[in-house]
Order: sequence, then structure tokens, then C-alpha cells
Amino acid sequence: MGKLALTGGEKTVTDPWPTWPIWDERDIEAVAEVIRSGKWGSFAGDRVHRFQERFAAFQDAAFGFCVTSGTSALEVALRAAGVSAGDEVIVPPYTFIATATAPLLIGAVPVFVDVEPDTYNLDPDCIEPALTERTRAVCPVHVAGRAANLERINAVARKHNLAVVTDACHCWGAEYKGKKLGAQGDVGAFSFQSSKNLNCGEGGFVTTNDERLGDHIYSLVNIGRRRGGGWYEHPLLAGNARMTEFQAALLDVQLDRLPEQMDRRDAAAARLHQRIANIEGITPQAEGPDITRHGRHGYLATYDPAAFGGLPRAKFLEALHAEGVPFSGGWTLPLYKQDLFLHAHDADYPVGRPYRDVRVDYAKVHCPVTEHLCEHNLWLSQQFLLADPAMMDGIADAIEKIQANYGELL
Ligand SMILES: Cc1ncc(COP(=O)(O)O)c(C=O)c1O
Repeated sequence: MGKLALTGGEKTVTDPWPTWPIWDERDIEAVAEVIRSGKWGSFAGDRVHRFQERFAAFQDAAFGFCVTSGTSALEVALRAAGVSAGDEVIVPPYTFIATATAPLLIGAVPVFVDVEPDTYNLDPDCIEPALTERTRAVCPVHVAGRAANLERINAVARKHNLAVVTDACHCWGAEYKGKKLGAQGDVGAFSFQSSKNLNCGEGGFVTTNDERLGDHIYSLVNIGRRRGGGWYEHPLLAGNARMTEFQAALLDVQLDRLPEQMDRRDAAAARLHQRIANIEGITPQAEGPDITRHGRHGYLATYDPAAFGGLPRAKFLEALHAEGVPFSGGWTLPLYKQDLFLHAHDADYPVGRPYRDVRVDYAKVHCPVTEHLCEHNLWLSQQFLLADPAMMDGIADAIEKIQANYGELL
């Protein structure tokens, strides 16, 4: 019998972790009120409308629109920003697949460029070498709510007349240089899917400061209707991405809780950081003075097996789980290695015919930083940061215990 829980020793963390989502009678009452009102759709009730104004203001954006998911938010955002069939969109490969499938779903082509090794966000230096005459937009992702280097990304975009569509799907309340994220590019896309820090099961949100883009987004969400136009007037080709009143009612109550939850996550992350940033072989996601508020969709760090006797990450994670610590490997595959992209040269994808004469061969894409992060990163999901900060010490204790006893696992 060894010292590690995996080899029969005592488990380090035995208290239960918080579960997600968090709700009480207020959530039930909010949804019940919608049922009783009989106004279930956003053209009948006013909850979607009111939440749009509230959340846009919360994100320091002039205009905001509820939609059905983060994926649909990205599709709408890209179209509003002027991306159309055959255009290219610069995206990072270290993200959830929707960042790259949203361009494909509107007939555009995602072009992968690498991320920074310390922030895990799109590397501004990688944008210019990837530009072609077809590039229309760049889509930085603020990974885990840590803002990308928007100052530099916006500067490159302005120089080349590109739109900046930010994937802010981890960014409820997050800030960059003292301002909330949402309208620090041209258009922002948020997710309210069930794992997210602000959620209503499924849902999304689109933000902008540009009134003309706002009017376009209104049409793209509402089957091509014009703001102020007739019910059966549809000047634009668009789907229906409208959210229901039930979802908006739930989001309104959930948003009341967000500021206090953000404080709790910050306190837990600070405590965890204090302990694990000093452990050799564990390098937390970099923050810095521009990150005036992190969105904390999770706590991320990079694992160096060399400091653990060469213990592979999978075995390290297994040992951590046995100690009661719920870290995961997060995104374990660069997006361009997904089957979808490896077979994307087939004719039915926009990367092949009919819009383009050049075919993209994603098998040739190589982003070394992303590949390293996919193999070495550690993720602690947002709900665990709502635990008592003392539980963060348990995480650090467990990591130190594995480091001191990795010989039991080799
Ligand atoms: C970075 C990122 N972008 C986009 C999305 C898509 O959001 P949704 O699941 O609401 O469609 C997600 C969520 O899962 C995400 O994490």
C-alpha cells in the first residue's frame, strides 16, 4: 500500500464539491410566472427585451440580442460583421469547435493560427502571415474568460480592414483594461449553455456598439424581419434564433447571483494560485495588468511531466481524481485534427467547391503551441471555484503529494 490514494493511501479531499447549476425558489417562480402569463415567446412578453438591455449594459455594450446558443451567436455575429460564403476567418485551434464551425455553417472557411503559450489565446503575431485576399474577419477566443490581446488584434484588423468577432462565450463579467468584454471588437458572442457561469440550459447573446450592425443582428435573429417592419416582411435571408421568455426569466435571476459568484471564484482562484504557482511543473494561465477581471470559466494551468518524474498527464489526472480533485485535460485535440476538418476537402464543405478554387488541406496545419497545450493543460471547471477557499488548499496538497510520491506510479 502506498501513500497516494491511487495506490491505497488516504484520499486528500473528502468534502463534497459544489454542484451546478445553482438555483432556488426564485428561479422556479420566475419560470412559473412566464407560464401563468401565457406570454411564452419574445414577441408576446417583454422578458427577453428587458434582459437584452440589462445584459448588454452589464457587458458595457450599447446593443445586445438574445439567441438560442453560443454557436448561433457566433453565426449571427459573423454574418453581421460581413462574413459571407467563400470568405476566410482567422480562428485559434485551441477552443471549442463552435468557434471554427460557425464560419463553416455560413459557408466561410476557418483558417487556424496558433495561440500564445502563456495566455492560451490567439497570438496576434500569427495573424498577418495567414492573411489572404479572402480574409474578412478574425475571431479571438477569450479562453476561460481571460481576455485575448485585443489591443494588438484590433490594430492588425484595422490595418487590413478585417472585422473582429470576439468569441466571448466564457466572458460573463470579464474585463479587459477596465472595460467589460462584448463590444471591444466589432461584435461579441456569448453562451448561456448549461455548463456556463451564466446559464439557462441553452442560449446565447450577441453584442455590439454599432447601431447599424445592431439592426442587422436584429434581422438575422428574427427570420430576416426589419426592425420596425411588418410581421410578414422579410428583406433578408435569416433563420430564427430567438430565445424564449422562459430562458430570459431564468437568466434574469441567474444574473442577480453572478456578481457574488464572481467574487467567490476570484477568492478561490487567488488562493489556488498562491499555492500552486509555486509548485515546480505547474504553470497557471498568465493574467497581467490588462486583465482587470478574469471571467473564470475555469482555472487552467500547464503541466510539465518532467517535474513529476515523467508521469504522463493522463496518469497524473487519474492520481488527482483518486485524491478527490476534479481537474480534467480540457480541450485535448487541436480543432484541425477533428475528423470534420481532416475530411473537409470533400466537395460538400465550403473549403472545397463551389465557392473556392483553392482547397484547404487541414492535415497540413501545424500549430505547435496548441498541440502542446492540448497534451499538457489542466482544467478545473468554474463550479469548483465556488467551493470554500480551504478546498483549494486540498488541490495544492494533492498535487504536492503526487509530486512527492510519483515513484509509486511509474
Ligand atoms: C469558446 C466557446 N465558443 C463557443 C461555444 C458554443 O456555445 P454553445 O454551446 O452555447 O453553442 C462554447 C460552448 O460550449 C465555447 O466554449
